Amino acid sequence: MTNYTICNCRNVSFFDVEDALHDYESLTDVENAFSHVQEVTHCTTGCGSCYQKILDAISDIMHR
Ligand code: FES
Repeated sequence: MTNYTICNCRNVSFFDVEDALHDYESLTDVENAFSHVQEVTHCTTGCGSCYQKILDAISDIMHR
């Protein structure tokens, strides 16, 4: 699996999202998982355009 940047404003990569989800217990709800990832990485707090890409990455990680 290759890493790639998802959020340019906050320099958050796919692996950063994965790491943020590692210590997160309830991986059932994308919205809750998103709040957690945002808290840890600060993704989507710049221009906000990466929001959907972050959600997609989270659901990829949750469903594999
Ligand atoms: S690219 Fe993530 S907030 Fe701008």
